[in-house]
Amino acid sequence: MCGIIGYIGNNAVEDILLSGLKSLEYRGYDSAGIALNDNQGIDVFRAKGKLVNLKNVLNTQNLKNKHFSQGIGHIRWATHGEATIENAHPHTSNDGNLVLVHNGIIENYQSLREELTQQGFHFFSQTDTEAVVHLIDREYKKTLSLESAVINAIALLKGAFALCIMHHNEPDKIIAVRKNAPLILGLGCNENFIASDIPALIGKTQNIIYLDDNELAIVEKDAVVIKDFKGNILHKNIEKINLAQDDISKQGYKHFMLKEIHEQPRIIRSMITANMSTPFEPIHFNGINVEDLVQNVDKIEIIACGTSLHAAMIAKNIFEELCKIPVIIDAASEYIYKSHLTDAKTLSIGISQSGETADTITALKQARTHQAKILAITNRIDSTIVRCADFVFPLNAGIEVSVAATKSYSAQLAALYLLALAVAERQKCADIIKLTKIKQELFSIPNKMEEIFYSCNHIKQCAQKYSKYHSFIYIARGINSASAFEGALKLKEISYINANAYLAGELKHGPIALLDSQLPVFAILSPDGKIYDKIISNCEEVKARCAPLIALTTSDSFYKKDLFDDVLTIPSVSELLSPLLFTLPLQLFAYYFADCLNMEIDQPRNLAKSVTVE
Ligand code: G6P
Repeated sequence: MCGIIGYIGNNAVEDILLSGLKSLEYRGYDSAGIALNDNQGIDVFRAKGKLVNLKNVLNTQNLKNKHFSQGIGHIRWATHGEATIENAHPHTSNDGNLVLVHNGIIENYQSLREELTQQGFHFFSQTDTEAVVHLIDREYKKTLSLESAVINAIALLKGAFALCIMHHNEPDKIIAVRKNAPLILGLGCNENFIASDIPALIGKTQNIIYLDDNELAIVEKDAVVIKDFKGNILHKNIEKINLAQDDISKQGYKHFMLKEIHEQPRIIRSMITANMSTPFEPIHFNGINVEDLVQNVDKIEIIACGTSLHAAMIAKNIFEELCKIPVIIDAASEYIYKSHLTDAKTLSIGISQSGETADTITALKQARTHQAKILAITNRIDSTIVRCADFVFPLNAGIEVSVAATKSYSAQLAALYLLALAVAERQKCADIIKLTKIKQELFSIPNKMEEIFYSCNHIKQCAQKYSKYHSFIYIARGINSASAFEGALKLKEISYINANAYLAGELKHGPIALLDSQLPVFAILSPDGKIYDKIISNCEEVKARCAPLIALTTSDSFYKKDLFDDVLTIPSVSELLSPLLFTLPLQLFAYYFADCLNMEIDQPRNLAKSVTVE
């Protein structure tokens, strides 16, 4: 959610800022801007829309003869104020000497704006951020020190903020501030960087300092000093990152989403083999002691958002089936504002691809105040969620660039299957023969995922055939209800099609009124006999209303073929593990559907990959 970058050093500031912003575009693309400082003053360039528009603006400028020594940049996901040039960052003080970029939300911006307006400051945007720039400017005029001005100002701010600030009179430094929004420092040789996330620093440096909340950094070309908000110096570790440009390239695929869909068998295979050598031996995790994890635990709550919440819905089925432990699932945004039963006997699991989702992090911090044990399942071991957790399950799925989550989702599912199996083994809450059979089957999943790719063309043709429709319904029952929700979410995220998922048994209680020949229904037919028959009955009800009907089912369990207009199949699989396979055709269907409509698949409108505001 908004990406920020800062650079101080002798290399081409403008190019470094632009390439950093390019790697952060997954955080938002409503507008982009940079500010460059040289001996003459600060130049600010901003543009509405994607980064390419900013590049076009810069191409019209003659910057060749200027020598910039520092700069800051921003890509925006709009919260306060529309996506206009006036609301784009960097924001500037009235005298033009102070500029800043911000990620987060200033909750008391309205009262600050009124106070500063009365004191003679002029506002030109509707953003919360502009209050911060005038506030720091006011303090600068009193103290004539950027560092003191920043320290005074941030004491008056409420909310979440990662900031990069520079002042024309102090061209030797950029100040970076972090409170409840991510920010890292990259250390180079005679140059230093500030960024919202690691991808912005790949190829520039491997040496990173993670700022924690309530810390600020005075970043100079050849020195970095980190302080708390009172100005006390802190000593932080320098960590090494090990990522190459290849980790964030499309590697020949048309879109990151397609590449990431195809990475799934490899990721799941290496996760399974990393945690169990054969199905006949107990599962062992590096870094998680399962006994400690579940000792004195009488319930599990799983907290997540978006696609990760769908993984949580599936996990409820798995844990209740295998471990006989009650599981409560909550959208993090709901958990925060309701009373809950969390206590010292609760295992609170937070699932987050990015590890930075503000709602999930706030919810986990709340769970901790109730003495719950916290387990974080995340794809980013360098993220904030890790610092809130007692136990961490790293997904190791590699950087996911496409805004629509795919590989991280199946990695989350695989992690949850492994965890539930490990708990069931240790607690002896399921028959060992049954558990071994499930583990054996789990080993076969990556190959079966690869088999699904053989039918890519068929899925593509089916998606193309249906791409003329403007609405979709997904139905399923049991464990795959969440697969239906995830399938519908994928389609709406990247195609802007109104796709809704329903429990198939609930269709007759209202949604059936929507059905006609213009509303296709995508039915996920679970392999299990009982549920299979029930959902077939639901499909009969759909067909009786003349709605086009697509079946997604296992190759061996299919009958009543005539009922369906189109059929997509996955290899034979048990009901319990079927979500791992069903997800692939659902992702591919959404992908080809959107591609047929020429959509911006990797960067759908209004979305951001990392939602760092509540
Ligand atoms: C955003 C993304 C979704 C993602 C959700 C939760 O809305 O667009 O794809 O599922 O955040 O993200 P997390 O990083 O916490 O899994």
